[in-house]
Amino acid sequence: MEEKDVLILAIESSCDETAAAVVKNGREVLSNVIASQIALHTQFGGVVPEIASRKHIEQINQVIACALEEAGVKLSDITAVGVTYGPGLVGALLVGVAEAKAIAYAAKKPLVGVHHIEGHVAANFITSYPDPASGGISGKIPGGAVSGQPFVQQKLEPPFVCLIVSGGHTHLAIVKDYGEFEIIGRTRDDAAGEAFDKVARAVGLGYPGGPKVDLAAREGNPHAIEFPRAKVEGAPYDFSFSGLKSAVLNYINRAKMAGEAICVPDLAASFQNAVVEVLVGRTVLAAKEYGYGKLAIAGGVASNQALRAAMAKACEENGLRFYYPAPVLCTDNAAMIGAAAYYEYQKGTRHGWDLNAVPNLKLGER
Ligand code: KG4
Ligand code: ZN
Repeated sequence: MEEKDVLILAIESSCDETAAAVVKNGREVLSNVIASQIALHTQFGGVVPEIASRKHIEQINQVIACALEEAGVKLSDITAVGVTYGPGLVGALLVGVAEAKAIAYAAKKPLVGVHHIEGHVAANFITSYPDPASGGISGKIPGGAVSGQPFVQQKLEPPFVCLIVSGGHTHLAIVKDYGEFEIIGRTRDDAAGEAFDKVARAVGLGYPGGPKVDLAAREGNPHAIEFPRAKVEGAPYDFSFSGLKSAVLNYINRAKMAGEAICVPDLAASFQNAVVEVLVGRTVLAAKEYGYGKLAIAGGVASNQALRAAMAKACEENGLRFYYPAPVLCTDNAAMIGAAAYYEYQKGTRHGWDLNAVPNLKLGER
């Protein structure tokens, strides 16, 4: 470790993952521990906020200790503590924020609050993610810790166009500089991930739906069923998924009434194809119209295999450079928060001991 190295201990607890990571100089992940609560919430078909908060409290100390240990650093080696303070579930966010404040205060380290979506985008700045076999990133936390895969990508620097697609957000943004966004498009109704989750539930694939639809679709024909691709009048970069979701639900109901069996892989592949086509079309159009040669994707849905493949193809055809995080860095994790916190730290962002959870925090707000 060099004297000038900036080490961020990052904490993320905005939804149903309790996560901590150590990130060096914004781009190198030294550890990334994720204790997922998915198994707990699955029985209710979605995240139960009260259960999420309680579970975060139970796991957070262990997760942080594990992240420091895997990184091979002590709290005294850390430069600053970064934490997600919004948007998200208020009770869940509060656990991470209170923990980060306590650690930063006790260890006399600066505190840097991070916007969750800024974190998702910053996952694209991570250039190296170690091979779990080489030690580290093993995930020793009981309750479903996730291991990573080795991953190396080229260094991405702003400006670029970024598609942010998660369970709660669908934004098309121009990332002008680190932590500086211009939102040029957004969903008018459901988020992309939400549409995946609702369709999955309707066909009995369970929660969380995105990865299940992704898997089922690999066995299906994406052209089996023609679903609508909605355009928003006068807003070329906006999205709308509620019509598509209704079309899928209508298709299922009609088949049920007629006593016909539904081919789940075909339905999953056709639905996914409709979502992917719209996401790719609008993002590539934005990159071209605004004249940016670099395009990145972020958020849980960015781990979708069909989206990654279609975006890679479209970027190649249009002479754009395509950036995408390792799948484990697309869904909620703390390494991405560490990357974002590094750039905020370098810009001088510091939060006080009065930092609070902000469940509806807007991008760009301080
Ligand atoms: O970013 P994320 O972990 O949490 C939020 O900030 O919302 O995103 C979770 C969302 C869920 O809706 C989940 O179904 C979706 O991302 N998702 C996927 C895939 N993996 C996760 N959607 C499509 N394909 C996937 N492979
Ligand atoms: Zn997220």
